[in-house]
Amino acid sequence: MDKERIRLARLHDKVVSADEAAALIRDGMTVGMSGFTRAGDCKEVPFALARRAAAEPLRITLMTGASLGNDIDRVLAEADVIARRLPFQSDATLRRKINAGEVMFIDQHLSETVEQLRSGQIAPVDVAVVEAVAITEQGGIIPSTSVGNSASFAMLARQVIVEINLNMPLELEGLHDIYFPVQRPYRQPIPLIAPAQRIGLPYIPVDPEKIAAIVFTAKDDSPSNALPPDADTRQIAGHLNEFLLREVRAGRLSPSLQPLQAGIGTIANAVLHGMIASPFRDLQMYSEVLQDSTIELLDAGRLAFASASSVTLTREVYQRFLSNLDRYRSRLLLRPQEISNHPEILRRLGLITINTALECDIYGNVNSTHVGGTHMMNGIGGSGDFARNAHLSVFVTKSVAKGGDISSIVPMVAHVDHTEHDVDIIVTEHGLADLRGLAPRERAGTIIANCADPQYRHLLGDYFRRACAHGGQTPHRVEEALSWHAAFRDRGTMQPARPAQALAA
Ligand code: COA
Repeated sequence: MDKERIRLARLHDKVVSADEAAALIRDGMTVGMSGFTRAGDCKEVPFALARRAAAEPLRITLMTGASLGNDIDRVLAEADVIARRLPFQSDATLRRKINAGEVMFIDQHLSETVEQLRSGQIAPVDVAVVEAVAITEQGGIIPSTSVGNSASFAMLARQVIVEINLNMPLELEGLHDIYFPVQRPYRQPIPLIAPAQRIGLPYIPVDPEKIAAIVFTAKDDSPSNALPPDADTRQIAGHLNEFLLREVRAGRLSPSLQPLQAGIGTIANAVLHGMIASPFRDLQMYSEVLQDSTIELLDAGRLAFASASSVTLTREVYQRFLSNLDRYRSRLLLRPQEISNHPEILRRLGLITINTALECDIYGNVNSTHVGGTHMMNGIGGSGDFARNAHLSVFVTKSVAKGGDISSIVPMVAHVDHTEHDVDIIVTEHGLADLRGLAPRERAGTIIANCADPQYRHLLGDYFRRACAHGGQTPHRVEEALSWHAAFRDRGTMQPARPAQALAA
């Protein structure tokens, strides 16, 4: 019976419909919902909110772990429910509203949101809505395929709505490790010194009195939309794996490397996928999202352990994972994103971090978020948490976008998420630039030579030479530095205007 999943009997009468639960959320409230890169999001209450918004004013501040699946951000954006959104999103409709100035989006390092909540620096959570596998005998909430910010939302909110998802197997119990840092000024070191270490509880220890409503659901997470590796991403993976092999041969890394972090998305997934055929062994991951490649590396015996905050898989791998949890349980762990992304722990563990750039400039500054310098794509996510604190910070990108009309290597990025100081390695399908120990003028030479697409390489070289004529530690022609972005905005391409075009203009 469904109610067996509510092991604290006095909570049985809290079971209500999604519409009744959603009635606890009122206009102007701040709501903290579970969900991290499409995993473990609430699948009933958001839709009830959208239905209600058709009949009455209902605008909320919505916080989550990261992006949501099941079209939740789209449905809530279309219903005009979202006034403010943080800390990350990846939905096309919501993105349009953000870029039109209709939704205020706060793009945050993923480790920071609950720290700011706890210290009262941002508006408190009125209601938390958390997807769960079950509720324990003490009223503890057992999360599903992500932890994200759910634990702190539940602990800090005035009221909690639990969505028990009957499609999530009970075998997920035991996969989570919930730890909260002690409030400042009494904060102690976080006692985590290895990816596989458990430091917390297997459930969210919420006061049962705060559980105001329980809703049953039976829906799957949305599958990952990462594309399978293609020729370019395979080449990027090949360059990075060759580089790591050289580091092992030089004695700077062991054959098990350092714990790995890989960002969400097609390129990072392909890079890890490329490690299946590599000589590396006994690898470990300390990441925020586990993708298909993680499961494949575990299955291939290359990966000894993976710690993260969510599991986001394609449909077939998701089913295989959920049906074989006993096989993965001892080699996988899900933590709050505050812990998976915590600078103290990342610096201690010494990670190799692999994140995707929209564009990089010739000195190694990286833009991960703003198309053309102005329009939000998804958000910085955890890339800043990881890159700033990495042992080796790698950024990958294809050398061109939009059929070649955009060069992903530009004279100056039009928005900076990761400064040159946080970027050690840049890889495109053409090659790898190792920036360690290089001054800006040396960095420009290696980035242009190794990473730029041939159709833009000479243009970048020409820009750099003319910039050097003005001198400086980091030479630029400031009046020209962003002209490539202006060219794409005005003419739809960064390629130089042909004489006919120039005349027409
Ligand atoms: N200018 C404009 N658009 C660009 C671009 C550039 N320099 N480079 C890529 N794009 C576009 C692509 O054309 C594509 O557009 P489409 O969706 O219309 O096809 C889109 O950006 C995604 O690019 P893609 O090459 O498919 O890579 P991706 O899916 O791996 O996404 C990021 C790349 C940067 C958007 C994504 O990795 C991201 O949001 N990163 C920030 C968060 C992060 O790094 N988190 C890490 C921890 S999970």
